[in-house]
Formats: sequence, C-alpha cells, structure tokens
Amino acid sequence: MTATFPALRLRRLRQHPVLRDLIRETELNLNDLVLPLFIKNETGEKQEILSMPGHFQIPISALEEEIREITALGINSLLLFGVPDHKDAMGTGGYHEDGIIQKAIKKICSLAPHLLIMTDVCFCQYADHGHCGVISGENGQAAYLDNDATLELLIQQAVSHARAGADVVAPSGMIDGMVKAIRHGLDEAGFSHIPILSYSVKYASAMYGPFRLATEGAPKFGDRSAYQMDSGNAIEALREVEADVVEGADMLMVKPAHTYLDVICRVKQAYTHIPLAAYHTSGEFSMIKAAAEKGWIDEKKAAMEILTSIKRAGADFIITYYAKEVARWLSNI
Ligand code: PBG
Ligand code: ZN
Repeated sequence: MTATFPALRLRRLRQHPVLRDLIRETELNLNDLVLPLFIKNETGEKQEILSMPGHFQIPISALEEEIREITALGINSLLLFGVPDHKDAMGTGGYHEDGIIQKAIKKICSLAPHLLIMTDVCFCQYADHGHCGVISGENGQAAYLDNDATLELLIQQAVSHARAGADVVAPSGMIDGMVKAIRHGLDEAGFSHIPILSYSVKYASAMYGPFRLATEGAPKFGDRSAYQMDSGNAIEALREVEADVVEGADMLMVKPAHTYLDVICRVKQAYTHIPLAAYHTSGEFSMIKAAAEKGWIDEKKAAMEILTSIKRAGADFIITYYAKEVARWLSNI
C-alpha cells in the first residue's frame, strides 16, 4: 500500500536545494542545443535582424569571428540558413556549387572541423515567390505548389550541401516524399553516410514571423497552409512521422516547440527509438525577448523553463536562438 498524508509528505524532497538538484528528472545541457545561423553576402558588415535581438545576417568574411565566439561558448552544433542576393523562380541559388550556403559550409569546415554542421534544405529563401517549392499552374496559388517537381530540386540542394561538407541535411518544406527522394539522391551521389533530419511535423504557424525578416523569405502571395500542417491537428502528426520513418529519416522534428509540447510528447511515445528534435522558433524566441525588454518577465528563468519543458516533453535536442545565452547562463559567464 502506498503512503498517504500525513506519512506521505511530498514537500520533504523539496526542502534542500542540493536534493532538488539530485532528483531533478530533466536537465538542459549545452549539448542538447543547436544554434541557427543566417549567412548573407561575401563581405560587409553583419546586419542585426531587428525582429530577433542578438541575431545577425552574417557575411562570410565575418564567419571567423562568429565561429570563434561560438567555439569559446562551447556550442558544437549549427543549423545554417543561406540568404542569397539573387532569387529566381526555381530557387537555383540553393544548389549552386558556389552559392552562399555552400561557401559558408566550406568556410566553417575549414575554420572549425569539429563543429556539427546541419543545413536547412528548402526552397523559400532562394525562390522569388517565397514558397517552399516550385509553383506551377495559372493562378500562382500556393495550392499549386508542384510537389513532385520540387523533389528533384531538393535533391540537388541536399547533395550540394553534402558536397560542400554538411554533416546533416534537414529538409524543411513539408513536401511529400522529400525524405525518400533526398535519401536516394544522397546515396546515389556517394553520401550514404549523411543523416537526414526531417522537419517531419511542421505547422503553418505565426511563430515564423520574425524569421522571415532574417531570411527575406516570406511568401509573396498566399501562405503556407497548403503544405504545412494545421495547428489543430495532432493525430495527423503521427501520419507525417510514420511517412518519414518509412522513407528513411534518421531523425525527426516537431516545429514549433513551445506551443506543440503535446505533439512532441506523442511523437516521442510513438517513436521512442528515433531521435527527436524540436525547433524553438523565431517567434517563440522573440516573444520572450520582447517581454524581457519590457521588464515583464525574467528572461533567464523563462527561457530555461521553456527549453527544459521542451526536453521534458520528449525532445532529444532543441534548435534554439537561445543557445548562446544558455551557454553563458550554464557556465555563469
Ligand atoms: C523554411 C524555414 C522556416 C523556418 C525554418 N525553415 C520558415 C517557414 O517555413 O516559413 C522557421 C524558423 C523560425 O521561425 O525560427 N522553410
Ligand atoms: Zn521553406
């Protein structure tokens, strides 16, 4: 028989701070975090992204300094986004051998070979229309995003990233069949050792607002609800995940994170054996920053609580714009 009050007193275990530390179930570590970086231009000044305090569009020429800071903080893993000068209908900037992201990958590989370089594989930053795939059809609606024509171009992008030195490719477009296509393409090109982190469960979310200023990749018409998931759906998330697993995804992702803790939990419970990432997105980041700037919230406590909760829900690692701050907080710098 289990004890009840007064024999049972749950508060007993909460009195001593060291005991609280000993029995804590979930603890955030720096090696749980991936830092996103935005790369734009060869040279020039780094440009602060106004909607994302502390984040910049970084030119290749400033990467050395950036990587030095990141390395000193003990951050070991990056997710790279390229912001090209030139955008066109087919997003060709995404797979040029000397495109902005390919150059950035090569540079970072040479500066810090120990870093894990993940790359976002999508169309929207590189396409003039700002959608995550090839647009076909007369009326230019997002619903006319040509799924299968997009696959071929995603393969080219993923292979070009691997060729430049990416360690992990992360397709983010919610294109049906993208994992299968990219796996096949990578294998054919001699990159069977490169894992795929699929943005398996990506919602059509207002939380990506600040990011679109960072990548200059907002859709020029319509929105992404014809390919990203509806925020009311959780069971459908399991179908998305199942499809990716069958297609050969090495790691899964739920995005956004804070508003979809239930989905993280369900996916982890259904696929305990497959590593799961969660993307703490730009909007989730900027909301904490804005409230903290106003003095309405304790930034460190709020961010640590939210990130720990994402891990507690079931994420094995978290992509977050808070990685540098967490590194400083954990080491008291
Ligand atoms: C590109 C992409 C987006 C994000 C990651 N990759 C934007 C979008 O789908 O509109 C969002 C990241 C963030 O908000 O932090 N497909
Ligand atoms: Zn996209």
